[in-house]
Amino acid sequence: MTQSEKIKKLNEIKQEAYLGGGQKRIDSQHKKGKLTARERINLLLDEGSFQETDMFVRHQSYDFDLNSQRYYTDGVITGTGTIDGRTVCVFSQDFTILGGSLAEYHAKKICKIMDMAMKIGVPVIGINDSGGARIQEGVISLGGYADIFLRNTLSSGVIPQISAIVGPCAGGAVYSPAITDFVFMVDKVSYMFVTGPNVVKTVTHEEVTFDDLGGARTHAVKSGVSHFTSDTEVECYQSIRKLISYIPLNNMDNPPSAEYNGGEKNLDFLNEYLPDNPNKPYDVKEVIEALIDDGTFFEVHKEYAENLVVGFGRIEGRSVGIVANQPLVLAGVLDLNSSIKGARFVRFCDAFNIPLLVLEDVPGFLPGTDQEWRGVIRHGAKLLYAFCEATVPKVTVILRKAYGGAYDVMNSKHVRGDINLAWPSAEIAVMGAQGAAEIIFKKEIDAAEDKVLALKDKVDEFTEKFANPYLAAERGFIDDIIEPKETRKKLIYYFRILENKVDINPKKKHGNIPL
Ligand code: HXC
Repeated sequence: MTQSEKIKKLNEIKQEAYLGGGQKRIDSQHKKGKLTARERINLLLDEGSFQETDMFVRHQSYDFDLNSQRYYTDGVITGTGTIDGRTVCVFSQDFTILGGSLAEYHAKKICKIMDMAMKIGVPVIGINDSGGARIQEGVISLGGYADIFLRNTLSSGVIPQISAIVGPCAGGAVYSPAITDFVFMVDKVSYMFVTGPNVVKTVTHEEVTFDDLGGARTHAVKSGVSHFTSDTEVECYQSIRKLISYIPLNNMDNPPSAEYNGGEKNLDFLNEYLPDNPNKPYDVKEVIEALIDDGTFFEVHKEYAENLVVGFGRIEGRSVGIVANQPLVLAGVLDLNSSIKGARFVRFCDAFNIPLLVLEDVPGFLPGTDQEWRGVIRHGAKLLYAFCEATVPKVTVILRKAYGGAYDVMNSKHVRGDINLAWPSAEIAVMGAQGAAEIIFKKEIDAAEDKVLALKDKVDEFTEKFANPYLAAERGFIDDIIEPKETRKKLIYYFRILENKVDINPKKKHGNIPL
């Protein structure tokens, strides 16, 4: 064979590989409203940056007529590329090849690119669209999954791991995305479940559609498995690119800073922003938007446990992780789901050197048998644990209520908050005035002729004495009480001086977070 014939052969093989499972199956993929594995990578990465590896890999199985279906890539495209010029590793399952099913070599390719990501210290982004374990390869496929799970676990906290689910992801296959840091799903395209509707029907006699059982909205709103929902695949890859812009490449790296040319923001309105009635809600997202650089708020878990808002933002171009109670939903109480949501976010930020900003307005933990029996103690402890162990710069601003255990939990001074500020509207106490008055003045109220008036007097007395930030500030639990309009300036200053903060935890194998 001449040199040019050899090159021609190479290009023919590549052309064959580019066609995946063939034009018919590509058309079928498009007809389902889905993109192909390669189209997805092209949308995710900077144009022309993708360098594919292992294109020539093919399975080595010959049972069940598999020898007639030895496609190049073995159903998963892997390689490296850039997002905004920063390197990432990527794999994208190709549903046109044996349904994107995972078998020995498909798994080996994913493991290989994950190992590369660990060696060079960059995020790994997995695009999942697969019929699960390749049935023809049996237990070998199961081993392949386990090899991936192990890598997901060992990489956790070392490199960011991101999963896009853009098709089926069922059975044990769900556990790889579940271990990764962020899961992206697309409405009406993605579904994830451990057992599908047919098995559910047989076992529990429930009738449920694919979408209701494990569609994007189900996991965004009900289970919290998914962190981001998009209406289209194109939007999904744009969101992943945006997420990458806030986070470092690995745990030894710092998050990238953006240019900030915004100048000073006039925040005078914040002095009048909170309602005079402390029981009236307001939207904490408006406060977040005011305090951070304009248009930089990127919310995580937007539709899940909305009583706690978490997300990324920038202050003078620097990345921060924001955790804020949301008085608009359940008065901003902490409950099971919000505790879990907050804890996972705080731990991600801490693992990846992203400073934390906490905006606090929390009347306590949600009471009730439902919460208690489902373990609000255990789950609430997760958020407490996460804040306690976090060593990144941590700044808290108490906007209004900071009651009971929730005061301690929300990055109080006592759990190593570096700078704890309060607005004059802050109410820092063991509990709200009404509840407190009913307990400590019970006898006096019972003995009074006009019980309603007596209670009101005592509530007023308690409010006057305790529902303020000054008692906490007297003891140094609050570093400063500030006018709301000054808050952004203070945050800029404190995050600047905390940039090189060093704090350490005792040496240990690992902690035992209450799971
Ligand atoms: C081999 C598979 C496959 C699989 C799909 N295909 N899943 N091949 N192993 N697991 C093939 C089909 O034969 C078909 O081949 C092509 O992929 C497209 O599949 P369709 O069924 O035509 O597509 P669609 O109608 O969109 O349905 C998608 C699907 C369905 C819902 C995913 O294919 C399906 O139910 N597949 C089986 C799912 C499953 O039971 N997997 C094992 C789960 S257990 P042709 O040649 O026609 O194009 C598991 C355990 C993991 O994963 C445990 C880890 C610890």
